[in-house]
Amino acid sequence: MIVAVYPGTFDPLTCGHMDIIERTAALIDRLVVGIYENPGKKPLFSLEQRVRLVEEAVSGLSNVQVRPFKGLTVDFIRQTGGRIMIRGLRANSDFEREFEMALMNRKLAPDIELLCLMTSSQYQFLSSSLIKEVAKLGGCLEGMVPDHVAAALKEEVSLPIELAPGKD
Ligand SMILES: Nc1ncnc2c1ncn2[C@@H]1O[C@H](COP(=O)(O)OP(=O)(O)OP(=O)(O)O)[C@@H](O)[C@H]1O
Ligand SMILES: [Mg+2]
Repeated sequence: MIVAVYPGTFDPLTCGHMDIIERTAALIDRLVVGIYENPGKKPLFSLEQRVRLVEEAVSGLSNVQVRPFKGLTVDFIRQTGGRIMIRGLRANSDFEREFEMALMNRKLAPDIELLCLMTSSQYQFLSSSLIKEVAKLGGCLEGMVPDHVAAALKEEVSLPIELAPGKD
């Protein structure tokens, strides 16, 4: 049984992430999407919200599960029983950072293999950061995030700052 883990912050999930999830799920037996707590990044959505948004998006994919995690990604992968880490690669922006992390992870956990999938061209420019910027400025996000994520973003960015818990 081939089990892989796709880790990320998913703040929030985009169609670029979904493309990687769907393509991977078609190749392997079981995919675990790992939602990294990532306190360092000060996420817009709480861990629980990020998990829920991904769960809703993958509800039709029977071999995909969603799990939050903190700590080392390689430790989390071992806990799932998987041996493969999935990452998505966009041109220009991702390769060097992924290469650096891959070499470090190999030192930490030589038993875990990294598989990178190239982005589909229509998602080349999509990142969660850019999506949040566009959402804050009131831009249309159609085709860039699933509809329920667009709705959640709209709600989140329309909250007055002082009423948004933990968003400083
Ligand atoms: N549009 C995309 N196409 C392919 N892979 C992607 C895309 N966006 C993100 N990924 C990949 O998904 C994984 C998780 O990414 P992450 O949660 O950091 O999203 P992000 O869009 O890069 O967000 P941020 O802007 O906050 O860094 C990483 O391997 C990242 O390279
Ligand atoms: Mg990123």
